[in-house]
Amino acid sequence: MMGDTMNQPGLEFGVDWYPEHWDENRWRTDVERMAGYGFSCVRLMEFAWTIVEPEPGRFDFSLFDRAIGLLAEAGLKAIVGTPTATPPHWLSDRPVFRVSPTGASHAYGTRRNLCYNAPEYREASRRVVAAIAKRYGGDTRVAGFQIDNEIGHETSDRCVCEHCRHEWPHWLERRYGDIASLNRAWGAVFWNTSYASFDQVPMASIQPSTIQNPALVLDYDRFSSDSAVSFAREQTDALRAASSPGQWVTTNLFPPPLSNAIDMEALTDGMDFASWDNYPVWGDQDEPLPWQFNATAQAYVRGLRDNAPFTVMEEMSGFQGHVCLGHLPPERQVALWAVQAVARGANRVVFFRWRTAPFGQEQLCHGLVDGDDRETERLRVIAATMRRAKAELSSLASVPVESPVCLAYSKDDARVLREQYLSKGLLLRVSPTFQAGYDKELASWYAPFPTLGVGADAAPIGSLEPERYRVISLPLYQMADSAVVDRLGHWVESGGSLVLGYRAGARDALDHNVEATLPGLFAELAGIRVPRFESLNETSAALRVGVVPGRGGVWADIIEPDGAETVAVWTDRSKFYRGSPAVTVNRVGKGLVWYLGTSPNPIAMLALYRRILKAAGLCPRFAGADVEAIERRDTDGKTWRLVLNHSPRRRRAYGATLEPWGWVKLPVSE
Ligand code: GAL
Repeated sequence: MMGDTMNQPGLEFGVDWYPEHWDENRWRTDVERMAGYGFSCVRLMEFAWTIVEPEPGRFDFSLFDRAIGLLAEAGLKAIVGTPTATPPHWLSDRPVFRVSPTGASHAYGTRRNLCYNAPEYREASRRVVAAIAKRYGGDTRVAGFQIDNEIGHETSDRCVCEHCRHEWPHWLERRYGDIASLNRAWGAVFWNTSYASFDQVPMASIQPSTIQNPALVLDYDRFSSDSAVSFAREQTDALRAASSPGQWVTTNLFPPPLSNAIDMEALTDGMDFASWDNYPVWGDQDEPLPWQFNATAQAYVRGLRDNAPFTVMEEMSGFQGHVCLGHLPPERQVALWAVQAVARGANRVVFFRWRTAPFGQEQLCHGLVDGDDRETERLRVIAATMRRAKAELSSLASVPVESPVCLAYSKDDARVLREQYLSKGLLLRVSPTFQAGYDKELASWYAPFPTLGVGADAAPIGSLEPERYRVISLPLYQMADSAVVDRLGHWVESGGSLVLGYRAGARDALDHNVEATLPGLFAELAGIRVPRFESLNETSAALRVGVVPGRGGVWADIIEPDGAETVAVWTDRSKFYRGSPAVTVNRVGKGLVWYLGTSPNPIAMLALYRRILKAAGLCPRFAGADVEAIERRDTDGKTWRLVLNHSPRRRRAYGATLEPWGWVKLPVSE
C-alpha cells in the first residue's frame, strides 16, 4: 500500500477532538472555527467505547455520526479511532485486566489497564472494531482509522495475568519445540533453573531480590510483543476488509519509541503508514528534549515503514501533564516542532488537542483553545505556521525522504539493555519497567547527523539495506548475528563506512557471551582486540580526538589495535589505560570500519562524525549547535534545504537570517 495516493495529501493539518466532552450546541462553532483556521482533518472517538457500545453488542453511533456530519459540512475529514484502550463499564467485572510485572493488579477506571491475551477483551475488541468497520468503512467523510492508542505505553507492554500464564508455555513450545532446546538456549543450567516442561517456566516478573535469567526476560518481551501485534493485526484486517481504497489504517505510537517490549516494526506491519505522538516536553520536565532527540524519533518512525511519509497523530500544542506541569515552551518553539516533523518526513500533523480538557485525568492537558474560548497565542501562531508551511512545504512533504546515512538499531538489544543496563550511563528509568537509556544513547549517536546537516534514516538492523547508504552507525549491537555481520562486511569491502560502538559483537544471537576476544564477530573487520573495559557509570574520562579534547562517558574500552589506526586516545590522568586508543579506524577493501569504544561527549562526537562523514565523501557542515538543516526534494525533483533555528536568539546560517525559533526554505544548487 505504501506510496499509494491515499497517503499523499501534499501536506495537511488536523486536531484531536473529543466532542463527547462538551455540550452539543457548541460543536458547530468549534467545527467551523477548526475549518476557518485551516485544519482539514479531525481525530475522534478513540476513548468512547461506552458511547458507541452502551451494552455488549448494542451499538449507537449517533453521537459520532452527528459530529462527523458536522465536520463534513465544514469540509473536514474524520480520522476514526478505535476505542479499545479504555474498557466499557460492562467489562469491569470480567477477567480482562492486566497484572504488572511488579505484581500490581490493574482495575477498571482508567486506561491501558487491559491484557492483550484476555479472551473476553479480545472478543469485545473484535466486536466493536467490526461494528466501526461496518459503519465507517467506505464512508467518504472518514479519511482513515487509528487503531487503539499508544499500544504498549504506560507499561501496557508487559502483563503477567492468568491469561498470559496460559499462553506463555504455548508460545515457548512454538519457539523451541522441546524443553531441552529451551534449556540450552537460555543456559537454564545456571542457578539450577532447568525446566522439565514448558508450563513450569515462570513469567517475567520483578523479583523481591536478584534478577531472572535475561534470556527468559528477552523471550517474555518477544511474547508480549507478539500478543500486542496480533491484537493490532486483528483490528487492521477488520478495518482494511471493510474500508474503501482511499481509506487508510495506522496506529499512533508513543515516544520514546524503543525501550519497551513491543516491536514497532511488526506492530505497524500491514498498516498504510506509521504515526506517532510528539511531546518534546511533558509533565514535570524542566526543559524540552533536545531537538536532536526529536529528530531521531522522527527518523525512527519514518524508518518503520520504509521512509514513506508518516503522520504525527498528536503534536503537542499546549503544555501537558497528568499530575504536574513543568516548562512552558514559547509558542514559536511549539510551532517549530511541527515544522521539524514535516521537514523530517511527516505529511500530516494533527495537534493535540482542540480544546483543553475540562475535567478528568487530563484536565492539565492544554489544547489550542482554553475554556474561555478566546483565540490563544498558540492557536494564532500555529495557524500562521500552518498557512506558511502549506504554501512552502506542500510540494515536498509527500516525497519520500532519501538519506545518505543511517542509524541502525536492534530491538532485541534494546530489550536486553532495558533490564541489564551495563552502566548507569545507560539507565534512564521512567517507571519500574520503563527504562529509556537505550533510546537516549541512540539519540546521541544520531545527533551529529542533523547537527552536521547530513540527512539520516534510522532502520531496524534486520531490515537494513546497507547498499542504500554510504555510512551506517550501529551502536550497542551486542547480539551480533553472523548473517548481518557478513552482509555489513561485504558492504564495507565495496566502499561503505561502518561505525561500530562499544559492546559490538559481545554476544551471539542467543544473547550468550561470545567465546572469542571482543568485539567477537566484528574483530577482524574492526582490526582490534578489546580484552579489557570498564563501565564509567555516571562518570566520564578525558580523551582526545586528534587535537580536540573531549570526554568519553558510559563505557571505556581499552582497545588493542590489530591492524586498525588510532583515531582518539584516552588522556585521563586518573586512568591506568591513559594512552590507549578509545576510537580506531580500519581500512577493509574500499571501505572503513570505525570503532568507538565509548560514548563520546557532544564535542568529541561531532569531531569524530565530521571526520567519518568526510572520509565517506559527504559534506558535513556545522552551522551552530541550535541549527538543523535538512535537504528535501520536491515533486519536480528540485532540491531544497530547510533550515531551522532551535534557539531563542536570531541566527545566521547558510546565508540566511533566522528569527528565534524561525525557519527558512532555501534552494540548493545541484
Ligand atoms: C498521549 C496520549 C493522549 C493524551 C496525551 C496527553 O500520550 O495518546 O491520549 O494522554 O498523551 O499529553
